[in-house]
Amino acid sequence: MSILITHGKIVTASEIFEGDVYIEGEQVVAIGKNLPYQADWVINATDKLVFPGGIDLHVHLSLPFMGTFSSDDYTTGTRAALFGGTTSVIDFIIQTQGDTLHNALKTWQEKSIGKAIGDYSYHMAVTDFNAEVAKEVVDFIEKEGITSFKTFMAYKGALMIDDGQMVQLMQVLKEHGGMITVHATNGDMIDSLIAQHRSEGKLSPLYHYLSQPEVTEAEASARFCDMLYYTGCPGYIVHMTCEGALNAVRKATQRNQKVYVETCSQYLMLDASLYEQNFEGAKWVMSPPLRQKKDQAALWAGIQQGLVHAVGTDHCPFMWEQKKMGLNDFSKIPNGHPAIEHRMEFMFSEGVLKGHISLEKYVELTSANAAKIFGMYPRKGTIAPGSDADIVIFDPHKKHTISAASHHMNVDYSAYEGWEVTGKVETVLLRGNVAIENNDCHLEAGFGKFIPRNKATMHF
Ligand code: URP
Ligand code: ZN
Ligand code: ZN
Repeated sequence: MSILITHGKIVTASEIFEGDVYIEGEQVVAIGKNLPYQADWVINATDKLVFPGGIDLHVHLSLPFMGTFSSDDYTTGTRAALFGGTTSVIDFIIQTQGDTLHNALKTWQEKSIGKAIGDYSYHMAVTDFNAEVAKEVVDFIEKEGITSFKTFMAYKGALMIDDGQMVQLMQVLKEHGGMITVHATNGDMIDSLIAQHRSEGKLSPLYHYLSQPEVTEAEASARFCDMLYYTGCPGYIVHMTCEGALNAVRKATQRNQKVYVETCSQYLMLDASLYEQNFEGAKWVMSPPLRQKKDQAALWAGIQQGLVHAVGTDHCPFMWEQKKMGLNDFSKIPNGHPAIEHRMEFMFSEGVLKGHISLEKYVELTSANAAKIFGMYPRKGTIAPGSDADIVIFDPHKKHTISAASHHMNVDYSAYEGWEVTGKVETVLLRGNVAIENNDCHLEAGFGKFIPRNKATMHF
């Protein structure tokens, strides 16, 4: 099958070019003006933007967490992602403490193979590090195409590793070309604040927020940067929310460190005032929690200054019935919120149209840097000859309103109900196949492929 996209405004992280894209099979063959190709299908993209398919580098599909599972699986989650212009996701395999990484990999392969519609890769979350696991880490890098390893400085007893394990893991990754990533919050301090609030009968969702003050994230981010500095390991902080944590990274740059930073669309758009409404606030119970408006300003500035490299979602949806597990105790509300479908449109509407970012920066944040940092570039994250033809054709003028009634995620509420967005994903190609057209998904479960990734490089 060949496709010719004509007269579009083609945007990559480095340039904007008015012209055509010619695709044969799964890949882009040529970009240029008035390309002389006959194609099976011609898409007229006049007045439309043509972006590389989005890469959401932080999602949780069928995640076993807090006594339940996140409600989107690989079929519903990658399908919703495609509707929103995200053609690839990176999910987190979670090691069960006391068990091997390979067993965890098998479990995640059972969740994904034959079920994903969009492309995917995995970060490997190391929750129990020891000498045997160290060997498995090397295997993952050398043989499995899994080169990034997630750690948690919180969720003690389930996911957290201690600083000794963290440094040892960093040493292995430094030696073998892996990347360490981190949920950087001070778990002990948070656990103690949770216990304090519960003992005082402070049980509403607001106390989820008050149990994770900014300083818990700033402290852990600084500590993580120090450990990176000592080991020389490449590192990446996931879902950064606040000014204090960003300043920890800014400080690290003063001793010539480069630390990669991700934020998520919700931290740029929403703030902690949402917790001030009884149990409704459970919709936004996530970790770290939403912060203040001054933190949104800091994150946008961090993006402009090149300190924040990527925007994900930390998509981790739960049905309202699941959220109600914490009706009488905020600490039992499953953490996470649904957003996989909206990130590309939100970043355009809130980021580009509100003057925070250029179109090139938009592509950098939503796909190119994810591909570069996590070893998928230039197969993913750009539109160039030889790249996978993962392409979004985007109407920059179309207005629409977010609602649970129209979204495609498997969750019965929207954290953005009634939010007005300008700009809409119109057509999505995944590896040269029409994924989304006329508000319909044309691909089936099993189409999505595992994308093996290369070793970490620090060269961009
Ligand atoms: O609230 C969140 N973020 N849930 C998913 C797990 C994590 O910490 O990323
Ligand atoms: Zn996290
Ligand atoms: Zn997460």
